[in-house]
Amino acid sequence: MRCSRGISAAALALANVVSASLVHISAYTGNVTTYNLTATTSEISTQAALRSLDVSGGCGDYPSWLTLAGDILYCVNENWPDPKNGSLSSFRVGPEGQLTLLSNVTTLGGPVYAVIYGEGKGLAVADYGGGGINTFNISDPANITPVQAEVFTLTAPGANPQRQDIPHPHQTIVDPTGNFLVVPDLGADLVRVFALDNATLRYTQTTPLQAATPGAGPRHGTFVKGPSKTFFYLVHELANTLVGYEVTYNADGKTLGFKEVHSSNTHGESAVLPNTTAAAEVIASPCGKFLTVSSRFDGTLTVPNYDPSNSTAIPSDPLITFSIDLDTGALAHRQTRAAGGVNPRQFSFNRDGTLVGVGLQSDSRTVLIARDPETGLLGDIVEAVSVVGLPNCVIFDE
Ligand SMILES: *[C@@H]1O[C@H](CO)[C@@H](O)[C@H](O)[C@H]1NC(C)=O
Ligand SMILES: *[C@@H]1O[C@H](CO)[C@@H](O)[C@H](O)[C@H]1NC(C)=O
Ligand SMILES: *[C@@H]1O[C@H](CO)[C@@H](O)[C@H](O)[C@H]1NC(C)=O
Ligand SMILES: *[C@@H]1O[C@H](CO)[C@@H](O)[C@H](O)[C@H]1NC(C)=O
Ligand SMILES: *[C@@H]1O[C@H](CO)[C@@H](O)[C@H](O)[C@H]1NC(C)=O
Ligand SMILES: *[C@@H]1O[C@H](CO)[C@@H](O)[C@H](O)[C@H]1NC(C)=O
Ligand SMILES: *[C@@H]1O[C@H](CO)[C@@H](O)[C@H](O)[C@H]1NC(C)=O
Ligand SMILES: *[C@@H]1O[C@H](CO)[C@@H](O)[C@H](O)[C@H]1NC(C)=O
Repeated sequence: MRCSRGISAAALALANVVSASLVHISAYTGNVTTYNLTATTSEISTQAALRSLDVSGGCGDYPSWLTLAGDILYCVNENWPDPKNGSLSSFRVGPEGQLTLLSNVTTLGGPVYAVIYGEGKGLAVADYGGGGINTFNISDPANITPVQAEVFTLTAPGANPQRQDIPHPHQTIVDPTGNFLVVPDLGADLVRVFALDNATLRYTQTTPLQAATPGAGPRHGTFVKGPSKTFFYLVHELANTLVGYEVTYNADGKTLGFKEVHSSNTHGESAVLPNTTAAAEVIASPCGKFLTVSSRFDGTLTVPNYDPSNSTAIPSDPLITFSIDLDTGALAHRQTRAAGGVNPRQFSFNRDGTLVGVGLQSDSRTVLIARDPETGLLGDIVEAVSVVGLPNCVIFDE
């Protein structure tokens, strides 16, 4: 990964750099769509355009997350109407952006996230509705086979019984060594920790991290590697807090240590945010100098209407950016910027960090926001497209 603008100043001074790549978007009740992204980056501005190339219904009616491995796109179907049932599909992405369905297998209920592990041969799914995790052997993406499936239990509902009725794993994350899988569990107030075995693709559950406060509801996290230390930043959906930990690798080779190095609300303050707010995503920038968080239903910001003839502003939730002290793990608030609409459930950065793709689930819209990789600051909204259904995942395919 590059740590700064991938284009030399000399190249920029000579001409604008034009690039073409793909963007994949999933949406509840709206299929998976692949777009052609053309972007022009110059020293002073970025322009971008998305054009639809192909759409597939092969991930069922409730696609909720996309994971890319080379030219294979994996998609999980959360299947809302039946939270006990879900599916995982694989597609080959053709050179013209065509999506060819290769395989479709059943998962535990309500899958919402998938990550690759085990030297590219394993895929681990977080099954929110079903309260467990599933792992698969994806050595042959056209013949996905189950490895392990496990449903977790609670002895009693959590501090927020409505949302913490049962365990709700929300994400599967591989640590920077590739040897651990960590799973924020919103229902159980835990980050579950698993030691991975690449040879068998199997996992073993070890000591979890307990959420800092009961009812916090861990949702998404991200690892950041400094020159000597490793950090883990965790967003809690129910408490709307952002907590950072220094991670240590214990001598047993099977467990992780976590020492708190940052704690704030998702806006970088100490106040308790209203419980109508729902923190969603946390992403570290390429090379880990910055962290960006999305918060939902804040109702505090607006953006100009996307229809220039309409003067009514559009309500927007924020994306909040922090800089990371890579020696201590401490975070400093840098910017709170409108995400472009309501419910930025997920967002991602392109490879050189010059664009942010945001799925605005409540607005049936996806936007691209320009970003300065040197400062971590988000700039103008450079493209906005209407998406059929409720867009919940936007990934770059470069
Ligand atoms: C979604 O896919 C299904 C099946 O391929 C198709 O019938 C439907 O028209 C698609 N919906 C959209 C919004 O493209
Ligand atoms: C994938 O499998 C699930 C569960 O078996 C099923 O409900 C769904 O219709 C299948 N999707 C496709 C596109 O075949
Ligand atoms: C899940 O879907 C499969 C395949 O469509 C079906 O056979 C099974 O009954 C479903 N399970 C539940 C709990 O609905
Ligand atoms: C994407 O658009 C660019 C610029 O118009 C074009 O050169 C390229 O062939 C397109 N790619 C695909 C896959 O359509
Ligand atoms: C297991 O695979 C990961 C890549 O998925 C790699 O980073 C890690 O070093 C491997 N572990 C061992 C013990 O070889
Ligand atoms: C994974 O599947 C492949 C076939 O696609 C098989 O050769 C391999 O042994 C499997 N790996 C494990 C760990 O089961
Ligand atoms: C949110 O806060 C209100 C007012 O304090 C309270 O009545 C309500 O129970 C809270 N809801 C949840 C889900 O915690
Ligand atoms: C203008 O935009 C607002 C906010 O999106 C919308 O509610 C309204 O219907 C729009 N008016 C017209 C005339 O399109």
